[in-house]
Order: sequence, then structure tokens, then C-alpha cells
Amino acid sequence: MPKLLPAIPRLRALLNTRRFLRDPLGMINGSVEKFGDTFKTYIGGLYPGIVTTNPALIQHVLQKNNRNYCKSPMHFDKLAHFLGNGLLTSEGDYWLRQRRLIQPGFHRSRLAALTNIMQDVTDAFMAQFDKDIAKGEPLELSEKMMELAFRVVARALFSADLDEKDLQKIGSDITVLQQFIIRQIRQPYLNPWFRLSGKLRQHELLAEDFERRVTEIIQRRRKSEERHDDLLQMLLESRYEDTGEGMNDRQLFEESAILFVAGHETSANAMTWMWYLLSQHPEVVVRIRQELDEVLNGRKPGFEDLPKLSYCTQVIEETMRLYPPAWVTDRVALADDEFEGIKIPKGVMLVTYFYGVHHAPDLWPDPERFDPDRFDKERRKQQHPYAYVPFGGGPRLCIGNSFAMMEMQLALAAMIRAYDFELTPGQVIEPQALVTLRPKYGIKMRFWKRA
Ligand code: HEM
Repeated sequence: MPKLLPAIPRLRALLNTRRFLRDPLGMINGSVEKFGDTFKTYIGGLYPGIVTTNPALIQHVLQKNNRNYCKSPMHFDKLAHFLGNGLLTSEGDYWLRQRRLIQPGFHRSRLAALTNIMQDVTDAFMAQFDKDIAKGEPLELSEKMMELAFRVVARALFSADLDEKDLQKIGSDITVLQQFIIRQIRQPYLNPWFRLSGKLRQHELLAEDFERRVTEIIQRRRKSEERHDDLLQMLLESRYEDTGEGMNDRQLFEESAILFVAGHETSANAMTWMWYLLSQHPEVVVRIRQELDEVLNGRKPGFEDLPKLSYCTQVIEETMRLYPPAWVTDRVALADDEFEGIKIPKGVMLVTYFYGVHHAPDLWPDPERFDPDRFDKERRKQQHPYAYVPFGGGPRLCIGNSFAMMEMQLALAAMIRAYDFELTPGQVIEPQALVTLRPKYGIKMRFWKRA
């Protein structure tokens, strides 16, 4: 039986656009409440779209019938314009070939080698953090976590090849480019002005300079006799099955650049929200410390300890349920499709609203409550596999999911043992859904060394 979906008419959707830009979560949550888990609308008042928080439909689109869907060009074309075709921005056969090539490098066993790098970065970060907190002032935690996550991914990629100056420059280049790309996507009517005023060219030159820097590192490494246990080495050594050849310099640049972009803001936001939630739940902090004492007995966690830190993992998982850093993704139907009577015509954009699935009361009772026990193994088994999708799903599942979990576990273990902390009172804490879900006004916290 065909199923008619509730629909937001085009004019209404167009009139809603400004509100949507100001408050996407409020807008979509309101529509989900009014229309249910799946409804039709016009994205930006123009493109026909279907928004869903139904785990089965999300699974259909991302996994079961993924071949009928491509990523929407709306989000990734601009990124590709500046940084080329890495895994996040490529499509079709080229994407599949690259994914097959790179996937083994992100396997858990390969990631073991990155534990030391992550630990060194966390130690160095904490040495500086100690100096920062000694001033006694509250810290803007989102900035600090951004710095930590950026350094983790930069060192995991290029280990010792970056000095402090390179690191700062690459960090600022990426931030400037990302901010410009967000403006291009959110305010497309400014694009002609960006072109005329020279702003577009200015950012293209910045991207070219960034590519030159990264390519120099790649070429230096190619010539070097030394072997490093990092992601660049993995990318350099991987070989296509059919030709036995490796990637050229341009491909190596594109994949590295995409790992930089995809691999830090998401983890940084997850860690920021985690500290905020922990500051509100001292009982959870006690349980984390108990687990760390039992499993580690005072030593630093090694790679083999991480699976034993099950409560720490649950805390991170519950944080990303409440605040999924990638709060939404979308796909475009390549041909007519149908799901349980719902017609999905060719060209329609399917918006899989991860934030909505994670907050659906029929999937997660008392959804706004922070309760890491929801991710207890037995309870999790009873859930639909697509009721929890912080890393997406199907063949385009985040390639860095284990990497991210590892870096967050290591940072949590090290910092929660070293510091006590509290939220600075009187702040408005509100999520802002841009490319990732971040605290709109930041999160100020005070940390001090534990006795
Ligand atoms: C908490 C941290 C992270 C979250 C929540 C996250 C989330 C996601 C999601 C939802 C997708 C799928 C997007 C879609 O299907 O449209 C994705 C893709 C991707 N992520 Fe992550 N990510 C995280 C960390 C990382 C890290 C650390 C890396 C790399 C070091 C990374 C690299 C990538 C790449 C390359 C893709 C594209 C994969 C493909 O299309 O084949 N991510 N991520």
C-alpha cells in the first residue's frame, strides 16, 4: 500500500528558510513533533526532500539500498573545490577504489601503532594545560579540545614531520578555509560577491599554499629512508589491488587534507560536550575513576586496555547520543525507490536526521537524560542498529570511528585522573548545528590538579 507522507508546502518551507538558518535543530525538531518521524519538505525552500528519524529508513538509505543514493553535492562541492577529492568528497567508482585502498590502514590492529602518538600528544597537551589552569581563570573548553584533537590528527598523519610553526600554519589555514566554505554554503547569495571582491581567489591561493606545504612533506617522506608508524606511511605504502601501484602526490595530498578536515572538529566537539556532561554528573565521574583504578591500577592505558574500559566507552557513546557531532547527513536518490510504501522519487534529497533519531522518545526513553548505562551491552542489543548513528552507517560509515574512540578514551582517562573540574556558573549552554554540533556560546570551565 502506498503511504502518503505529511508535507510542508513549498511556500511554507521557503518562508521557514531564515528561521532554519538561525535554528536548524529547533526547526526540524518542531516538524518531527508535528508530522512524525518522516515528512516531505523543500530543502532551502527549493529542493524536494524527505526528512527522517526512522532507523529502518535510515538503514535502507545508508546501507541496504545505498547503491541507489549518492551524497548531495550541496555540502561537499565547495570542500572539494578547495581540497580536492578525498574520501569524504568523492563518489562512485573512484570513492570505492580509494576506500578499499585506505580502509585497512584504519583497522584496529593498525591503529594500535598510533596509541603512542596519541598518548604523547595528550601528555604534551596536558603539560601546557597545567600552565593554563595555574592562572586560575576559567578556560574556554571548546578551544582547548579543538587544539587537542587537531594535534592528535596532525601527528597521527605526519608524526615528526611537522614543527610547531608548520602545525600552527596548517591549523590556521584549515580553519580559515572551513569558515569560508561554511559561509559559501549557508549564504549562497554572497557567492557572486565573493567572486567579484576577490575573496574567492584569496581563499583559492590559501588552499594552493596549503597544498604546497603538505606536498613538500609528502615528497620529503617519499625520499626518506626512515619509516614512521603513522597514517602518511600507511597511505604511502598502500597499493591498488589491480595495478599494484600506489597513490600519486596529488592523491596523497587530497586524502591527507580530508583526514585533517574530517578528523578533528567532530572529536573536539564530542570531547567538549563530554566534559560539560561530566561536570553535571559527579556520580558518573566517580564510576569512571573506579573503572580506571580497577583496570589500570595507576598505569597509563595501553592499546590492549581500551576494550576493558567499558564504562568510559559508554560515557563517550552516551555523550554522542545526546550531542552527535555529525548531527545530520543527506543523500540524493539516483532512481525512483520505495520504502514500506513511501515513494522516494529520483532526485529527492533524503535527510537522515541523526540528532532526531538519538532523541526519539520511542527509541530512547527519557531521551534528554544523560545515562551511560543505556549503552550497557545487553541493553544496546535490544536497540535497532540504526537507532544510534554517530558515525553514520553502511559503506560510507566513518573510516575514523575507531581512531576517534581511541583518542577520546585516552584523553578522558588521562585528564579525569589528573584534574577536578567545574562548570563556570551563569552560562547559557546551547547546541549550535553548523557543519558539526558545537556549543553556541562555548563552554567555560575551571580545572585544577587533583591531590
Ligand atoms: C567523534 C568523531 C567523529 C564523528 C562523530 C564522525 C562522523 C562521521 C560521519 C557521520 C561520517 C559519514 C558521513 C556521511 O555518511 O555522509 C563520517 C565520514 C568520514 N569520517 Fe568521520 N567522524 C569522526 C571522526 C573522524 C576521524 C578522527 C577521522 C579521520 C582521522 C574521520 C574521517 C572520516 C572520513 C574520511 C569520512 C568519509 C568516509 C567515506 O565516505 O568513505 N572521522 N564521519
